[in-house]
Amino acid sequence: MSERTLVLVKPDGVKRGLVGDVLARVERKGLTIVAMELRTLDADTAKAHYAEHAEKPFFGELVDFITSGPLVAMVLEGHRAIEAFRTLAGATDPVKATPGTIRGDHALQIGENVVHGSDSPESAAREIKIFFPDRF
Ligand code: PPS
Repeated sequence: MSERTLVLVKPDGVKRGLVGDVLARVERKGLTIVAMELRTLDADTAKAHYAEHAEKPFFGELVDFITSGPLVAMVLEGHRAIEAFRTLAGATDPVKATPGTIRGDHALQIGENVVHGSDSPESAAREIKIFFPDRF
């Protein structure tokens, strides 16, 4: 079951020089990078990306953080790519993320957790359209 997922190396990951580490893990796992771009999000794109969290108390923080500097957006393709990447990423709360995962190895704070990965086929399709509107 080959599928696509939208992955971000968030501004904290780019600032800390973790892009190479994330890419190495992705490639080692066997996922294929089919699109990739370094860009800084404007607030409207960030709000669209996180629309499902608009009512959460930390929404403002989320938007400020994701627009705070360049990020790397990519589309990964492969067998059960959505779940495969989320397993590589580890739990959303880095304190709970297993060592050996991206967040388990590199992060401590929930807001600054290095990567984002789509959480369902519906989210993946929506998010890929936001970041790469004419590519897929
Ligand atoms: S998830 O991954 O969607 O199941 O996680 P969820 O808990 O719903 O969180 C959604 C995104 O919000 C971020 N988050 C927070 N940011 C700032 N402060 C607090 N307290 C907080 N809690 C959650 C979390 O990192 C998720 O970001 P993404 O980019 O989707 O991983």
